[in-house]
Amino acid sequence: MRRALLLLALIAGCQDAPPAPTAAPSPPAPAAPAVEDGSLDPDTGLIRAPGWALVAANCSGCHSLKLVTQNRGDRDHWIHLIRWMQATQNLWPIAPEVEEPLVAYLATHYGPKETGRRPPLDVRALPPPPPLAPDAAPVQRAQAALGPVKQGLKAALVGALQAHGPVGAIDTCRTQAPALSKGPDGVQVGRVSHRLRNPQNALAPWQETLYAELQRAPGTPYLTRQLPGDRVGYLEPIRTAGMCLTCHGEQLADPVRAALSAAYPADRATGFHEGDLRGAFWAIVPAR
Ligand code: HEC
Ligand code: HEC
Repeated sequence: MRRALLLLALIAGCQDAPPAPTAAPSPPAPAAPAVEDGSLDPDTGLIRAPGWALVAANCSGCHSLKLVTQNRGDRDHWIHLIRWMQATQNLWPIAPEVEEPLVAYLATHYGPKETGRRPPLDVRALPPPPPLAPDAAPVQRAQAALGPVKQGLKAALVGALQAHGPVGAIDTCRTQAPALSKGPDGVQVGRVSHRLRNPQNALAPWQETLYAELQRAPGTPYLTRQLPGDRVGYLEPIRTAGMCLTCHGEQLADPVRAALSAAYPADRATGFHEGDLRGAFWAIVPAR
């Protein structure tokens, strides 16, 4: 039983960032001068005001601009979203002289909604929806996709610890994990945490309330949420096991501490105790 538990915990071992889309899209060519009369552009659905052409050019490559126009928030919100897409979704770097007017346009025309008495109804502030049943197809798909990922990570971590000790295993986690965290076609998988070692494992917007719920009730087996594009997002807690403390605990051996701060200067993933919520596995799967 103990052994089974340990193995179960190990599967959460090392893994890199969510896999990025394979072909990196490239930034668009500069567009022709645009109409800026405040009218609604019938093709893009954007309000034609200064900056809209920048949004049309930079933000329509990977998803519908509806995703943009349905979203609301201040400057910080939009910058946070852009940084998240750059870190995890292959969004290209945007030059400051382009990003500045682009973000200003979004914050002005798609700013926080003023509804008078009530604060904006942000999906992130809503309680998480009840999860789909364990035998629902998307749940099965997510768990089937994560199974081999966990197996591969477990094998890599255990193997590296045995062969090279903790310092060598850190290097294995860093260099080999990305290849091990690929889902099957049409499925994305990865790990997130509220206290990160690798900044690429940052929480995506759709994961925020679900993750907050795991923090509140870490015994929750899994949570799900419908996503745009007829997809389902799945999140499953990762608890801290005894052996994880070697690299995530409070008292680290000096060589381990040194190796970690060399590889991850902004490491926040230490100071965990056995049983703590360490993070979560996630998957995005087709809804049907
Ligand atoms: C040998 C050291 C080592 C051990 C032991 C270890 N980890 Fe990690 N862990 C790492 C490294 C290094 C990373 C960063 C990998 C990367 O660059 O993506 C990491 C990242 C993670 C992440 C991703 C979130 C983040 O902070 O980037 C989670 C979750 C995680 N570990 C959980 C665990 C759990 C649970 C255990 C115990 C079963 C464990 N780890 C054991 C070294 C270790
Ligand atoms: C390289 C691809 C790519 C480009 C270009 C891109 N995004 Fe995204 N964006 C994504 C992906 C992937 C998602 C997640 C989609 C989903 O979950 O349905 C996303 C999600 C979003 C969301 C929804 C976030 C949420 O709360 O769920 C917004 C809003 C958004 N993008 C705005 C923008 C803006 C503004 C730009 C232009 C600066 C942009 N995107 C350019 C890849 C991209």
